[in-house]
Amino acid sequence: MAACLLAIIGGWASCSAPNANDTAPFSLSELVEFPAHFPAFEEPADNPLNAAKWELGRLLFHDTRFSAANDVSCASCHLSQFAMADSLAVSRGTGGAPGFRNASALFNMAWQPRFHREGGIPSLETQVLAPLQEPHEFDKDLMTLVAELAKDTGYHALSEEAFARPFDAYVLTRALAAFERTLISGESAYDRWLLGDSSALSESALRGQGLFDNLQCQSCHSGLWLTDFANHNIGLYRDNPDPGAYRLTLDSADLGKFKTPSLRNLAFSAPYMFDGSLSTLDEVLDHYAKGGMGNPNQDPRVFPIDLTSAERSDLLAFLAALNDTSFVVRTARWVP
Ligand code: HEC
Ligand code: HEC
Repeated sequence: MAACLLAIIGGWASCSAPNANDTAPFSLSELVEFPAHFPAFEEPADNPLNAAKWELGRLLFHDTRFSAANDVSCASCHLSQFAMADSLAVSRGTGGAPGFRNASALFNMAWQPRFHREGGIPSLETQVLAPLQEPHEFDKDLMTLVAELAKDTGYHALSEEAFARPFDAYVLTRALAAFERTLISGESAYDRWLLGDSSALSESALRGQGLFDNLQCQSCHSGLWLTDFANHNIGLYRDNPDPGAYRLTLDSADLGKFKTPSLRNLAFSAPYMFDGSLSTLDEVLDHYAKGGMGNPNQDPRVFPIDLTSAERSDLLAFLAALNDTSFVVRTARWVP
């Protein structure tokens, strides 16, 4: 049964074909493979993954017809070599329009409860609509886009196969979200250590982990995902150049609060923070060591720390153990 669910993407060979994997680049079982210490794969009951859906999502993710000037796709700002973020402080949209936030890295999306920098978007299916209308991202009307893409015979065929309906906005949002849920990253040295390989972390990384706990980093960057998914003000600025979660709540206590990002794959996703204002992890540690800028909403767990250079390199060794090169390698193969 599992073998039949293992529909082969690309070759569309029947599930009984003996050498289907020889020609097919990706199998569904490979795509949703994740390590044993991850909780069960989460997908909405009304949008289960299937092979045609994944392929449609993959193609849509890389389709520049999404943008007004046909120059930008999701993958222009979410690139595999940057752990599905980009390398700019703030992303550039269609026609080179500068945005105002740093592109988020995308991984382990299936287990995330809230999306965007202030966590205001409850599902991946609805998130897809966010970049569309934004003038500094795609600047394109959903209905215009859908009408254009529905004429693509390849999309039409995949849509019928995946959803048993013609290509429309429902199909577009569901396929992209289902694709994004397969951006799974869990093969870092830290993961190997969690799975019981005591040699996976160096002495320095282990000391760094101890510091990470003692300095209360882990109280926000917590658990398997290295985030509590909650909003905090870490005192990046004294004033609030970006209102953060206040945009959603209009509560002044939320000014300058942003969702805690995961600390996985930081080697790939520089620059850091919601606006990409810190270029290196050293600069991030400088920020924390200084105890922030003293924003009125600053969380008390951000306080001045005396960080010796040995402690600094231990912390960096721990953060480096959170990088998963296999994720970058795997997703690079997904670029059409
Ligand atoms: C012009 C650059 C750009 C394009 C194009 C773009 N994004 Fe993004 N993406 C961003 C930025 C910037 C953020 C952070 C936005 C914020 O939080 O305000 C983001 C955030 C996200 C998030 C939230 C991640 C999280 O952890 O909260 C998802 C999911 C996402 N994008 C998926 C997509 C998809 C799917 C597409 C194509 C339909 C797309 N993006 C197109 C720049 C872009
Ligand atoms: C009060 C909660 C909290 C504490 C404590 C905390 N962080 Fe953060 N951290 C955050 C939030 C929220 C952000 C995102 C801020 C932004 O986008 O401007 C962040 C951002 C980061 C980033 C940048 C990640 C990225 O992708 O941009 C790093 C690295 C980081 N923290 C490391 C640490 C370390 C190391 C410590 C301990 C010294 C620590 N954090 C303590 C909440 C916290």
